[in-house]
Amino acid sequence: MSIHSNIPQIGLGTYMMSPEEAEEMTYEAIKVGYRHIDTAEVYRNEKGVANGIKKAINEGLTTRSDLFITTKVFPGNEMWGQEQKKYDDVIEAFQKSLARLELDYIDLYLIHSAHANNTRIEQWKALLDLKSDKKIHYAGVANWNIKHIQELIDLDLPTPDTNQIELHPWAQQPELVQFLNSKDIHIIAYSSLVPLSTWRKKEGENSLKTRELEDEVKSANSIFKQLATKYSVTESQILLQWALQQNYAVLPKTIKIPRLRENFDFSFSIQDSDMDMIKLENKGGGITWEWGDPLLVD
Ligand SMILES: NC(=O)c1ccc[n+]([C@@H]2O[C@H](COP(=O)([O-])OP(=O)(O)OC[C@H]3O[C@@H](n4cnc5c(N)ncnc54)[C@H](OP(=O)(O)O)[C@@H]3O)[C@@H](O)[C@H]2O)c1
Repeated sequence: MSIHSNIPQIGLGTYMMSPEEAEEMTYEAIKVGYRHIDTAEVYRNEKGVANGIKKAINEGLTTRSDLFITTKVFPGNEMWGQEQKKYDDVIEAFQKSLARLELDYIDLYLIHSAHANNTRIEQWKALLDLKSDKKIHYAGVANWNIKHIQELIDLDLPTPDTNQIELHPWAQQPELVQFLNSKDIHIIAYSSLVPLSTWRKKEGENSLKTRELEDEVKSANSIFKQLATKYSVTESQILLQWALQQNYAVLPKTIKIPRLRENFDFSFSIQDSDMDMIKLENKGGGITWEWGDPLLVD
């Protein structure tokens, strides 16, 4: 089945969650109705996600086949002193994630970034083999730009089912979005909530968000505040609905149960004229990563 019809468009993001938080929020999210959970080997919380899933299944809230679980292999980044993973390393990382998640297949497995410039292709071939072996249902990438995906096309390799990228009104990536749509690659938006004044406020949650941007969203003139008032919803709901209306899957992360519900509640749509206004908010590149936009990796 094509990923477009199979991926639940709203998933729970788990970056920056401890294993305990991931366990609780996975379970609570399933209770609310979420069926897609997004984790990664580098989040170090796959065991927590596994416990949340087990609890929900044991209580009869869901079944394995109703869930859509995404995890990611970190490719290795030489700038951080890491070796670039080779084919066998990817298979080994997959087996470890599968064991930590206590699953016998993964719905979606992603190469977390394009940092492995020497071994990207063999990493991708490992994912294709995992897919042929039915260990994963879909194979994808995250933070890959047009050039990275074009490399696969030039080698006549199958393209990714999806690309998970930072996307929100301040980072709209029109060229990349158009390219992905033209190649039938499903788009998963991450960090949809960057413009919120409540986004990543804890100690150590650093990013490229400037004081100027912080002030912009706190102002009463903020377009997101104005639209939230107009549609009688929250700013978070405006940002998520903006993505959903463009057919991006979203992964809002929260450790607060009321926000879990808020981020899953969409019974409104944003008018075209307002979508056009939001289009004007694009500021260019990614903001999420303090060390720079991973889409700019060579
Ligand atoms: N592939 C990649 O490289 C990559 C990179 C980044 C993220 N991701 C995935 O995408 C997910 C989402 O991205 P993200 O974690 O950067 O952030 P996000 O979902 O855009 O925003 C999360 C932040 O917003 C706050 N928040 C959540 N819901 C809210 C609401 N309704 N009202 C007000 N504040 C709210 C959260 O605080 P509380 O937790 O305190 O509620 C948290 O600080 C990640 O968890 C991860 O699964 C992938």
